Amino acid sequence: MAQTKKIEITINGKVISVPRGSMLLGAIKQAGFDVPVLCHHKDLTPNGSCRLCIVKVSINGRSSIVTSCNYPVRDKLLVVTEDDELNKHRKILAEMYLGRWPNVEAVKQIAKKCGVENSRFASDITDTNPKACILCTHCVRACKEFVLEEVLDFAGRGIKRHLTMPFGVVDRHCVGCSSCAYVCPTGAIEIVDDLNNPADPIMIRNHGMKINAEMATLDAVQNRMREVGTANIIDVMNAYDLLPVHNFRYGSHPEAHKIDSKMLKRHYFTQGMADGCWKGCSMACAKAVDGFVLRTGPYKGQKVVVDGPEYETAAGSANMGCFDPDFLVEFNFYCDTYGIDTISFSTTMAFVMEAFESGVINENDTGGMKLKFGATNEVLEILHQMAEGKGFGVEVGQGVRWLKEKWIKEGKPAQFLNDIGMETKGLEFSEYVTKESLAQQGGYGMAVKGPQHDEAWLIFMDMVNNQIPTFEDKAEALYYFPLFRTWFGLQGLCKIIWNDVVPADNYLQKEAHKIPEHVRNFQKFYEGMTGIPLDEKKMLDQIARVYNLQRIMSKLLGFGTRKDDRIPYRAMGPVTKEEYESRAERYDRQLKEIIGVDPAGKSTEEKMKILRKYREEQYEKLMDAVYKRRGWTKDGVPKIERLRELGIDLPELVEIVKDAQE
Ligand code: SF4
Ligand code: SF4
Ligand code: FES
Repeated sequence: MAQTKKIEITINGKVISVPRGSMLLGAIKQAGFDVPVLCHHKDLTPNGSCRLCIVKVSINGRSSIVTSCNYPVRDKLLVVTEDDELNKHRKILAEMYLGRWPNVEAVKQIAKKCGVENSRFASDITDTNPKACILCTHCVRACKEFVLEEVLDFAGRGIKRHLTMPFGVVDRHCVGCSSCAYVCPTGAIEIVDDLNNPADPIMIRNHGMKINAEMATLDAVQNRMREVGTANIIDVMNAYDLLPVHNFRYGSHPEAHKIDSKMLKRHYFTQGMADGCWKGCSMACAKAVDGFVLRTGPYKGQKVVVDGPEYETAAGSANMGCFDPDFLVEFNFYCDTYGIDTISFSTTMAFVMEAFESGVINENDTGGMKLKFGATNEVLEILHQMAEGKGFGVEVGQGVRWLKEKWIKEGKPAQFLNDIGMETKGLEFSEYVTKESLAQQGGYGMAVKGPQHDEAWLIFMDMVNNQIPTFEDKAEALYYFPLFRTWFGLQGLCKIIWNDVVPADNYLQKEAHKIPEHVRNFQKFYEGMTGIPLDEKKMLDQIARVYNLQRIMSKLLGFGTRKDDRIPYRAMGPVTKEEYESRAERYDRQLKEIIGVDPAGKSTEEKMKILRKYREEQYEKLMDAVYKRRGWTKDGVPKIERLRELGIDLPELVEIVKDAQE
């Protein structure tokens, strides 16, 4: 990464070095000096309106007075923060502010700092309201920078200048996020519409604002979610060989650029506004395509608005080998319109396509359609059939498990179908290649609700950030994260503000992969809402009750034991020769370095067998370790003593698990 160039400056005789282009106010603080500020806010772009932070700078002997909050350091400077002339200017300014707003606490403090106790400038424009607006512009900037709205601004000139929404009425673009109220130093803005009646709205706002500030300042360099939504993940997954291609056989594709975030942003996304996910969200990561003309189906020829595409829909398209962006947007639209989940559909279609291409099924099974990877017209046809309850679309609509069982009953090759049919507990895998991440295999397989997409973050932690390298780390992660994820999901909190945008210094924290500051934020939201303080232990106990209850319910329904947590081998390693050979260097190296087997002279089939045995054993070991940590039996059933510890050893629950105890 390119280093920011440093530059040496002298402040009140003290020499320090600061990044070129950084603001002088930060350098003054770094050197241990202070200047009064009124319009400055650490999370907002400086605008230099109050002029209290004035200092003298000299470059090559030429001196001038500048506002330090918005003065970028580009040259070697000599800086003076205090002398008679500066103090005199500041005093006059402070007197003027005090004259106009004599009872505003922030102004009184500033005046005191400047040595002013009374003002000579009291007049008929003096506003005695202790919560008067002092025109600092914090709110205007917060609305623009945090929320990407421009709902607030000033109207009038001179002494008539005042804060307002357009035409003086409540603007419909106001999302009610309260960012403006939070940054207001005087309390001039009050959010009156707090319908949820939180126990401590200030606590919620304090922590919410930190998140708003992070989104405003860090998202652009971390994920670009505000710009392109979750579509940014397509680019990352393809680069890390984790984007599912051709039924999870491969992790990247040369045509992936046709459906990546750059392409979608340049040619498709037309909306980037506060979205319907949550109106007050300043991230607004949902994107949309306006005026898209459909080419198939009941709305053929019509112009529509398409909500998306998001990562999983685009990745599902790659999984079906479909890299035509027009297809992607149309597929997205019709799945939404028909109420069909894009993930389950893509994973099922990808399975059908592999079965077709490998000759396990043929046109007699598909109603005459050639369902090869990349067959965009046929995919749309199946989607319409599914919605209309016609043809082969009805069978595809039953999902991977149903198709597997049907075809196996018809005598088609059971092991191959079980290996490539990407489902666990009857739910189709979401769109990530898990072969090289044991943690993510467990994350999907051992999720109580199945391999669903909100269980997929471990792949980032494991493969992209390498934060859980050892077996023990992975087992511990599979204890903590499913609990934490379930906890904040049930509280209605969003994953993006937990681990997509992270604090700039997160990497310095102990257990950085948990994003400790954001876990604390979430606990504070809970406390602010309910009035009940929460620490990690209380939080985990709270959710462990829910999680164990869910597991027991799954057992009751026939999905809650070890057999149900096993995953198809395609999720663990290469099923076909072609798959192994496409990444032969990687697999051969692993045989040698991890398993201790020399691949030289061995056939691909022999090497695949050794690799498979090793990976399946690792997965079984992981299940043992995770069950132990969760307080479950070796068969994955909650132990009665664990239920007792959690205070949920209710007779009805004990009845369900008692015969499965060790
Ligand atoms: S509540 Fe949010 S959107 Fe509305 S004016 Fe304030 S900052 Fe802007
Ligand atoms: S309302 Fe508050 S934040 Fe906005 S300009 Fe006035 S004092 Fe500053
Ligand atoms: S703080 Fe610098 S001009 Fe207001």
